[in-house]
Amino acid sequence: MEFKKIGVLSDLEPHGQFSRWLDDHDVLVYRLDGKIRALSNICTHFGGPVGYHKMKDGCFTCLWHNFKFSAKDGACLSPGGLSLREYTIKVEGDAIMVQLVERASA
Ligand code: FES
Repeated sequence: MEFKKIGVLSDLEPHGQFSRWLDDHDVLVYRLDGKIRALSNICTHFGGPVGYHKMKDGCFTCLWHNFKFSAKDGACLSPGGLSLREYTIKVEGDAIMVQLVERASA
C-alpha cells in the first residue's frame, strides 16, 4: 500500500502535533518520545476531534466528552472503549508520509 504525503516536519511546530484530512481520513500526526506517529483524529465515541487539545502526559483528550486515548497506541484509557486507528508513518527528507490503512498488528 502506498504512502501519501500528509505534511512536512515543520508542521509539527510549535505544538508537536497537527491534524489534517487526507482523502477520507482525518489523521492526527504527532511526535512522541522523538518518534513521529499517527492516529485517527476521529474519536471512537461519537466522532469528536481527538487532537483538538495538545497531548498531555502521553494522552489525548477528546474535545467533546473528554475520553482519553493513549498516544502510544490509541488505546482508550478512560472511561474505556474502542481504540483509535493507528497509521504507519515514514519520513522522507522533510516530508511526513502516511499509509492510509490500519496498521497490521506486529
Ligand atoms: S466524541 Fe470523543 S469523547 Fe465523545
